Amino acid sequence: MKKKILVTGGTGYIGSHTVVELQAAGYEVIIADNLSNSSEDVVDGIERITGIRPAFTKLDCNDKEGLNALLGKHNGLRGIIHFAANKAVGESVREPLTYYRNNIVTLINLLELMPEHKVDGIVFSSSCTVYGQPDILPVTEDAPVKPALSPYGNAKQINEEILRDAIYAGLPFKSVILRYFNPTGAHPSGEIGELPNGVPQNLVPFVTQTAMGIRSELSVFGNDYNTPDGSCIRDYINVVDLAKAHVIAMDRMLGGGMENNLEIFNLGTGRGLSVLELIQAFEKATGVKVPYKIVERREGDIEKVWADPKRANDVLGWVAGESVEDTLASAWNWQKKLRERGIQ
Ligand code: UD1
Repeated sequence: MKKKILVTGGTGYIGSHTVVELQAAGYEVIIADNLSNSSEDVVDGIERITGIRPAFTKLDCNDKEGLNALLGKHNGLRGIIHFAANKAVGESVREPLTYYRNNIVTLINLLELMPEHKVDGIVFSSSCTVYGQPDILPVTEDAPVKPALSPYGNAKQINEEILRDAIYAGLPFKSVILRYFNPTGAHPSGEIGELPNGVPQNLVPFVTQTAMGIRSELSVFGNDYNTPDGSCIRDYINVVDLAKAHVIAMDRMLGGGMENNLEIFNLGTGRGLSVLELIQAFEKATGVKVPYKIVERREGDIEKVWADPKRANDVLGWVAGESVEDTLASAWNWQKKLRERGIQ
């Protein structure tokens, strides 16, 4: 019998890639998503890749009754991966209560329901945003959590604390917290990828839209940072590599391999790339020019951050293997598919 997993936010960017990898690894996946930032067509894309259609329910995880009914219907669920959340940093500053409700109450609902439905564990999507500007690079999981710069970042920190306190209190489940660096790229099939709502806030979707001519030029936010070329440095991790880490974390959680009932892992490549280097890598990988101009710094940006992924490498046996060129080529392939489909 296949092990059943609930993936909240499973039609979203990272969620959909994770559903594909879970199915490929033999899990039965149930998706719950409120479709606030994704579309049900993503389920078709997943089916085209894997040949298996995941069960899909349109559901907001704030709806505890609905969630309870879903868990009851899919009796025997072993694990949950909780992606469902809002993720626009600027919007979170303008609408803090929306972010606290959608990004915190949803986790509490899941945790309250897990014991009665005998769900063994939950994998939680966290972010390197919890480190703020780290004092030491590359950043390890033991680096201190710094005061958050936005309600979005604060909610991630609060979620981590909720999980820690719940495990400390002896509640009957396990948890793995995954701190993502900068997820990038798309499935090599071009069937699923990132679908930004409106003007992209993140770098790579803005780069691909500029390369496509949808945007006239990319604004590089600052070239006077204390970095070799003056632009900010990030750790861009391939989304399929990232998705695979969730499968390993789930295997470990359900297989009884965890050393503690709460484990935290950085998911990054260990390599930092500046904004200007990323533009060059994109041009090299695709042969397409990206017009850009240097503008003022963006408020709240971290100067430089990249992961020390050693714990995930050693303990999970996971490595982010894809090159940044191939990752950017996959993002470009996805952008071209969107154009073919008349979407963007
Ligand atoms: C941001 C959030 C992070 C969150 C992630 C989710 C902050 C400080 N961090 O990551 O917590 O998990 O989004 O989506 O807000 N850039 C440009 N021009 C652009 C867009 C971006 O130069 O048009 C630069 C940024 O200044 C940054 C880099 O590209 O240096 C990456 O930006 P982005 O993709 O927005 O990711 P983060 O800011 O790292």
